[in-house]
Amino acid sequence: MSNNFARRVRKMADDTVVNTLKLASQPGIISLGGGLPNPDLFPVEFIRETVDRLIKENSHQVLQYGPTPGLPVLRASIASYLSQKWGRAVKPEQVLITTGSQQALDLVGKAFLDKSDWVLVENPSYLAALLAFNGYEVKYDTLQLKPGGIDSGELEKKLRSGKKYQFAYFIPTFQNPTGVTWNESVRRQTLALAKQHGLMIIEDDPYGELYFQSVPPASLAALDQGNTVIYLGTFSKTFCPGLRVGYLVADENTVATLTLIKQAMDLHSPSLSQALVAEYLQDQKTYHDQMEKIRVFYREKVRFMMKEMEKQFKNVASWTKPAGGLFTWMTVPGIDSRTFYHEAIKAGVSFMPGYPFYANRPDYSTLRLTFATVGEEQMKIALERLKRLIKRS
Ligand SMILES: Cc1ncc(COP(=O)(O)O)c(C=O)c1O
Repeated sequence: MSNNFARRVRKMADDTVVNTLKLASQPGIISLGGGLPNPDLFPVEFIRETVDRLIKENSHQVLQYGPTPGLPVLRASIASYLSQKWGRAVKPEQVLITTGSQQALDLVGKAFLDKSDWVLVENPSYLAALLAFNGYEVKYDTLQLKPGGIDSGELEKKLRSGKKYQFAYFIPTFQNPTGVTWNESVRRQTLALAKQHGLMIIEDDPYGELYFQSVPPASLAALDQGNTVIYLGTFSKTFCPGLRVGYLVADENTVATLTLIKQAMDLHSPSLSQALVAEYLQDQKTYHDQMEKIRVFYREKVRFMMKEMEKQFKNVASWTKPAGGLFTWMTVPGIDSRTFYHEAIKAGVSFMPGYPFYANRPDYSTLRLTFATVGEEQMKIALERLKRLIKRS
């Protein structure tokens, strides 16, 4: 049967990463590798009571098929939330509910990418977005990611070269994998260049609300006065990922066409999950308290990790100091993370090797670490193990 797989599957079904990460599930290994939010933060009581009430009061709707673009109440809540946050009107018709933002990535791929088209991405970029776009057999051009964002001079040069990019895919805030945030001037320059050259931007923003201290610069979508940016949001990090509720914001016509494509994918996203998220957004006190709890929790986690990293790796590695999100990105000169990973597993610690996050020219000396899930004692042990290994290599 495997002979029957479509040609595109070859690019999608590279199991190196999956096989690599499987090793981390052995007992005794402390994992700094996953990208999961901490499950202790899930508002379990709120969810239990709300689901119970929704089913008692409204089972005919929340357990039934629903409209493809999403439950009207949720689209309206998101539109109103974004209008306030962005300082410009967003209509419910501009919001398409998706099954996580991962579906939105596949959806924009299906809608805009033909075989051999060019996509512009940060280097490194989000691995699963590259996997989604790979399914459309595209080619990548990359912009090196630096501490304050991409280099807008490099962007301008690429856009002036005349190469046609179907879209650029960017994660400007607390990026996965690096934790880097673009500064405001890079955002403004990028948007101006995109407008000038007719470049469409897909802005993926799962972490924007997970800031530790100060609110990050406005999103590209908030700054966009026209139709340059398609914005992807999700409730995976601000509520629970298992509900699989994300959303996409674009002009009404684009949303109408994307809705037809989504219909063929899954008819609609889960009704009960959507109704639950709508209740969460409308209950402003619960939402506000929960977001505060999440921010304080990760702020303490990152503070501890940064302090320990400073102690352990000061002279042997460099790493990013994220102002939000879930990750830090570490560069250890001289290592090759493909082999170093296996040594780390033997030593009882795992991380996410950095190379699969590069669309082109991987840097094998990079690793992604998360501070989200392990406790302080375990974190300390994991980083000590890592340090011993680095010293040996
Ligand atoms: C940058 C980025 N985009 C998209 C996603 C997918 O999120 P969702 O759970 O909404 O599908 C993730 C998840 O980790 C992510 O880091």
